[in-house]
Amino acid sequence: MAAPEKLSAKLTLPNGKEATLPVIVGTEDEHAIDIRSLRQDTGYITLDSGYMNTGSTTSAITYLDGEQGILRYRGYPIEELAEQSDFVETSYLLIHGKLPTKAERAAFSTALTRHSLIHEDMHQFFSGYPPTSHPMAVLSAMVTSLSAYYPDSLDRHSPADLHITRLLSKVRTIAAFSYKKSIGQPLMYPKNSLKYCGNFLHMMFAVPSEEFVVNPILEKALNQLLILHADHEQNCSTSTVRMVGSSGANLYAAIAGGILALWGPLHGGANQAVIEMLEEIKASGSDYKKFIDDVKAKRDNRRLMGFGHRVYKNFDPRAKILKKMCDEVLATLGISDPLLDIAKAMEEIALKDDYFVSKKLYPNVDFYSGIIYRALGIPTNMFTVMFALGRLPGWIAHWKEMVEDKDTKIGRPRQIYIGEKVRHYVPVDKR
Ligand code: CMC
Repeated sequence: MAAPEKLSAKLTLPNGKEATLPVIVGTEDEHAIDIRSLRQDTGYITLDSGYMNTGSTTSAITYLDGEQGILRYRGYPIEELAEQSDFVETSYLLIHGKLPTKAERAAFSTALTRHSLIHEDMHQFFSGYPPTSHPMAVLSAMVTSLSAYYPDSLDRHSPADLHITRLLSKVRTIAAFSYKKSIGQPLMYPKNSLKYCGNFLHMMFAVPSEEFVVNPILEKALNQLLILHADHEQNCSTSTVRMVGSSGANLYAAIAGGILALWGPLHGGANQAVIEMLEEIKASGSDYKKFIDDVKAKRDNRRLMGFGHRVYKNFDPRAKILKKMCDEVLATLGISDPLLDIAKAMEEIALKDDYFVSKKLYPNVDFYSGIIYRALGIPTNMFTVMFALGRLPGWIAHWKEMVEDKDTKIGRPRQIYIGEKVRHYVPVDKR
């Protein structure tokens, strides 16, 4: 077989010099100009705020085509995984690169079950926070604290698999405990007889005084929601995980960084912001048309939360699945949510309105997910925690890929300085 043709790009600089830069082609025929030697060869850097055109790494985890609305984990379409897999299996796939055999799957599940408890001393941390604390603040602090309880994580040679299992299992417990504390209910210990998502629902909603039976509809919906959130290549939080991890910081620290990046309303915090927006519209007499007019006029910098995406410019395949799921879950549970009616009416208007169409703004993963979380009984301020729970295997897979890649370097972008030229210190009485 003939060796693949080596492609290159030529860049002409203002001084007339030419730089030849290699071109890298991905498995789905995506092209990138490799500028790694640019500064050394020419003295120039590239400037790309928001990294709109910058590939920070090669990766074999997730393929995303924003124009076609394609999302695949390790080659498997998201639609097939959401329909046929469960969250634990999808986590294995993302982290280990292949679907597990029956035995591998059983061993992975058992390991997650066995690592679900958190150190008893950590329970006191929850009491230290005021009940009004945002659960994302608690979650990030608790994940950082895990590195204090597992100091072997600071040793780069300690087995990563053990920390990965601990994290995947314990984050679920931490998330549920933070909720229980915030409403003043006793912490519910995990139950080994339950599966990953069922166990989470048990820790969230059971009380010691009553029998709790996991509703299979809710369990299935939660599995699907978490699968849809499980990875999204180099988004803001995943890039943060890679950035923190690139310094050699331990896994727990890197993931805590990702959790904090996710919190913002332009990223994972959007699911909470969508519900708050819909509630505000409902409270003001459901005048969603006025809200859309305000968005278009950019009054108070309003945005239609849950719309738009840096990468998807046609549709978000996750939103498509979620809209259908939303109808199904609410119908099966016999719930009628006025916020869903408002959301659907707003989507219908926006999809026809030139402002949104011309800017290629479509519903994203957060537009309908919050309405499903509400139906599951999850409070609004926990929505971003749910996103974090779902995104965890993706963050872990990227951290693992990064530490195992021998070409990884510490993340350290350059800048173009636009401040003062050198000037000399003036003592305070002479200023
Ligand atoms: N409502 C109204 N206008 C919008 C919206 C929106 N939701 N999103 C973008 N625009 C406008 C924006 O004002 C700008 O207009 P102009 O060209 O006139 O200045 C144009 O569209 C481009 O926007 P941008 O902010 O430059 O685009 P971006 O790629 O930097 O931002 C985004 C992507 C997701 C941050 C943005 O679309 C947004 O703020 N959406 C609402 C928040 C949201 O739903 N975030 C969740 C994203 S999906 C979950 C995740 O992966 O994090």
